[in-house]
Amino acid sequence: MSRLSPLFVLFIITLFSCVHEAPNNLDYELNKVIGDKSHYILPSSTEYDKIPQSPVNPLTKEKIALGNLLFFEPAFANEAKYTAGLGTYTCSTCHVVESGFRPGRMQGIADGANGYGEIGERRHMSSLYQAHEVDAQGARPLAVLNVAFVENTMWNGSFGHTGANANTKEVWGVSDAFTKLNELELGALEGQNIAGLEVHRMMYNKETITKNKYKKLFDEAFPDMSEEERYSRKAASFAISAYLRSLLTDQTPFQDWLKGNHNSMSDQEKRGAILFFGKVGCASCHNGPNLGSMQFASVGVDDLFEHGGIKTNINDARNLGRGGFTLKPEDLYKFRVPQLYNLGDSGPYFHGGSKNTLEDVVRYFNNGIAENKRVPESQLSPFFRPLNMNEQEIKDLTVFLEKSLRDPNLQRYKPTSIVSGLCFPNNDLESQIDLDCR
Ligand code: HEC
Ligand code: HEC
Repeated sequence: MSRLSPLFVLFIITLFSCVHEAPNNLDYELNKVIGDKSHYILPSSTEYDKIPQSPVNPLTKEKIALGNLLFFEPAFANEAKYTAGLGTYTCSTCHVVESGFRPGRMQGIADGANGYGEIGERRHMSSLYQAHEVDAQGARPLAVLNVAFVENTMWNGSFGHTGANANTKEVWGVSDAFTKLNELELGALEGQNIAGLEVHRMMYNKETITKNKYKKLFDEAFPDMSEEERYSRKAASFAISAYLRSLLTDQTPFQDWLKGNHNSMSDQEKRGAILFFGKVGCASCHNGPNLGSMQFASVGVDDLFEHGGIKTNINDARNLGRGGFTLKPEDLYKFRVPQLYNLGDSGPYFHGGSKNTLEDVVRYFNNGIAENKRVPESQLSPFFRPLNMNEQEIKDLTVFLEKSLRDPNLQRYKPTSIVSGLCFPNNDLESQIDLDCR
């Protein structure tokens, strides 16, 4: 009776030595509230067969490699408003890698601004430009991370001919001239980025592509395209879109946990995740593989003009969300549910940049009181209501957003050099100093 069987002792030792690998109660609980884990597992950037893509622009290594260079290449900043802006900006001026592919400041400004800082936070308007002349938009830039999982892009979902837009043909080209591109049925990104290259003042044609020494790379990426199509904004958009589809945050603690590594998240993070997928109900809207979704909802937040945005005002159609595109009263003030990875890399948050930290966002959802009084109560989502979390729960949920959803290795998506050899992501004099290019 008094002697322990050696076998029992061995059992206890094994139990303790495995304690780190074995799931604990929190793992079981998280498993239960998540349901089908495979739904949330993101592919890696080379698993082409698992990445959603456009049938007219299948992913290839060559297209992704070219798009990666173009996204960071200031040589194509060739339609700047003034000479001083030529060759100084890129897509990544507003989608900064170190800021989770968002600008390191509230609003993105490309042509018409100078400076970079550490993560894009010191970019500021150039004194040569007037506010209406710069390239800036009336909404906080969306991260392009995990955008392969977005069927209709932009805060208002206006691009793409499928999904939510299948029944919106009558407004293509009406509320926004660029959405006429949906008629080409190229895919949301492929269409949007043709417009994007024009909006962001970048010309791609045979002359500019040859001059900037990219001709061979376009030939390799698009061997089946006619010459006329191959050296164009369309081909550049196809390459950039392929690159964007490869931007996946598959190296986060939460992704590791989904794949079976129970150690990747702390108990606090797990408690936060249980709240997110469980009783707090974040996943009633944030439920796609990217933790965003193609739902449009109003949570009653302020607009960018109220938070220091330039080139925007109370009448900006962007303030109307989905309704600004469909022109339907029932869609007014509803915005696409955005993805949630690497948001901790740079605030502020929401389309109007009204909240500075992720904890502020969690507190806003917890209070459930709309801050924007122009949004009628009838438009607010029924899921937006007081959540009654206590202080500990608020902290746990915030830590889940900040840590578990952060991929620490986004540098893998940045080229080590680009063809022109120019300073990137920005190439104005001030940025060159900030970026140690001179
Ligand atoms: C001046 C800043 C700026 C520049 C430069 C810029 N973007 Fe953006 N980007 C934005 C803003 C702002 C939004 C959100 C606009 C909206 O939805 O109303 C956005 C949204 C996007 C989206 C949609 C993401 C989603 O989840 O729907 C994609 C894709 C994108 N940009 C790609 C690009 C590409 C490619 C380039 C270069 C050709 C580029 N951007 C250059 C500011 C910028
Ligand atoms: C009613 C659907 C809905 C619910 C429920 C919901 N969200 Fe959201 N969430 C949205 C929408 C829509 C936006 C964008 C709103 C805007 O900017 O106008 C958003 C934005 C966010 C943002 C900012 C993203 C960015 O790019 O700035 C974070 C972070 C976020 N939600 C986290 C949460 C968390 C945490 C919960 C649970 C407490 C939650 N959400 C519950 C719909 C929802």
